[in-house]
Amino acid sequence: MTGAASDPSAVVASVVARLRAAGCVFAEDEAAMLIAEASSVEELERMIEQRVDGLPLEIIVGFAMFYGRRILVEPGVFVPRRRTEFLVEQAAALVTPGAVVLDLCCGVGAVGAVLLATHRGIELYAADIEAAAVRSARRNIEPLGGTVFEGDLYQPLPAGLRGRVDILTANAPYVPTAEIRLMPPEARLYEPPITLDGGSDGLDIQRRIADDAPNWLSPRGRLLIETSERQSPITVEILERAGLSTTVARSDDLDATVVIGAMRLDRAASS
Ligand SMILES: C[S@@+](CC[C@H](N)C(=O)[O-])C[C@H]1O[C@@H](n2cnc3c(N)ncnc32)[C@H](O)[C@@H]1O
Repeated sequence: MTGAASDPSAVVASVVARLRAAGCVFAEDEAAMLIAEASSVEELERMIEQRVDGLPLEIIVGFAMFYGRRILVEPGVFVPRRRTEFLVEQAAALVTPGAVVLDLCCGVGAVGAVLLATHRGIELYAADIEAAAVRSARRNIEPLGGTVFEGDLYQPLPAGLRGRVDILTANAPYVPTAEIRLMPPEARLYEPPITLDGGSDGLDIQRRIADDAPNWLSPRGRLLIETSERQSPITVEILERAGLSTTVARSDDLDATVVIGAMRLDRAASS
């Protein structure tokens, strides 16, 4: 920050105190971030006021850290969660040179951006239904060579992708409608319901993704869906019913669960 008050440690202490009084659990980290990102005293003051009012830190500074990368975010989008780094790790373990990767419900494109940055030479497509998410995803993904589409699940994708997708990732909304009101205010108030609400059992979008996945996956393709530990048995059932054979990967550190579905060889052979 330029033009800061003369005693930097007093500035830090005062910002920390204001954030802590507003209920920010990680007040020191957040203060450091705001001070680093503000370009003037006036901007810092504006940022503190926004944070005290409850605006998510990532929206204030305009980016979220995800897998060690700055992912650009704008108001009205779902902020990528640390937990989803596990989905990236599971996908990365399956990516081969030249693989075709599709990230559905891509949000701001965090998953695709990391996969593109770490696996040069893959063909990456991403799609989301929300205009704000698509705008951010284009900024995060297109400079790295990926392509972002706007629309309902598979609907905006080019027909030529059918049967070619080697890795299909999805962190789709999976919160049951009745549980949205129990979410932290930063999600409830600042992330649009469409980014969170997965219908009565939370898994409506997962069902739609899985049902159509065999039409888009290559014969050795995999579908990787983030879900919760509690919902994972139903996610498994959904993928099995769509004709995929499943395994479940779990990270207790990140409290993350990913169900991985593979095309069954009998089904792949007949398609
Ligand atoms: C939980 S957020 C996850 C975003 C991103 N995958 C991530 O991990 O950061 C779910 C995303 O699904 C998108 N979405 C919801 N319904 C959709 C649909 N029918 N078609 C495409 N995207 C959808 C929302 O706009 C939101 O960006």
